[in-house]
Amino acid sequence: MRPPTDCMLCPLCSGRTNIVLPSGDLSSGIAFVGEAPGESEDLQGRPFVGRSGKILDKMMAEEGLDRSRVIITNTVKCRPPKNRDPTKEEMAACRKFLDSELSQCRIVIGLGKSACRDILGYEGRMGEIANKRISVVIGGKETVFIPTYHPAACIYSKEARAGLRETIRAAREELEAGH
Ligand code: URA
Repeated sequence: MRPPTDCMLCPLCSGRTNIVLPSGDLSSGIAFVGEAPGESEDLQGRPFVGRSGKILDKMMAEEGLDRSRVIITNTVKCRPPKNRDPTKEEMAACRKFLDSELSQCRIVIGLGKSACRDILGYEGRMGEIANKRISVVIGGKETVFIPTYHPAACIYSKEARAGLRETIRAAREELEAGH
């Protein structure tokens, strides 16, 4: 299920240029869920193509995981004004689209706080939960959720870089094991 091109389910529709749909291998079984499109994503209609995307691509390449092999998506498909965090209401309005994207996944990786807020209802510090495997029900199906740091957090934090790298490595191993 995809948002219609004229989707008006939440107020983010008023500022968008493009709806940003998932990219990558939609049948991969492994998904990375970011926060929301930024300016570059809004203009190009593709997730993680701006500064955070470059960081994610580089780390994935270093860990031998090409982004085309997994699903890359966001909690909301339209850019929030001034890149603020998406609200709970906006994430809830977009959730049926996310659930549909994740419905075939065995591993869902949450990149940063908004993804963890949306999928786990978690409001605490990333350091407390990063890289734990948490069982969640997504779209009625039990799935493994791995919270980790957002690529933007890696600009200034060594802990975030190590944490995200560990998650990417785990995703690559899962993909290669293919179970
Ligand atoms: N770009 C995205 O697509 N998502 C983010 O969370 C940040 C940048």
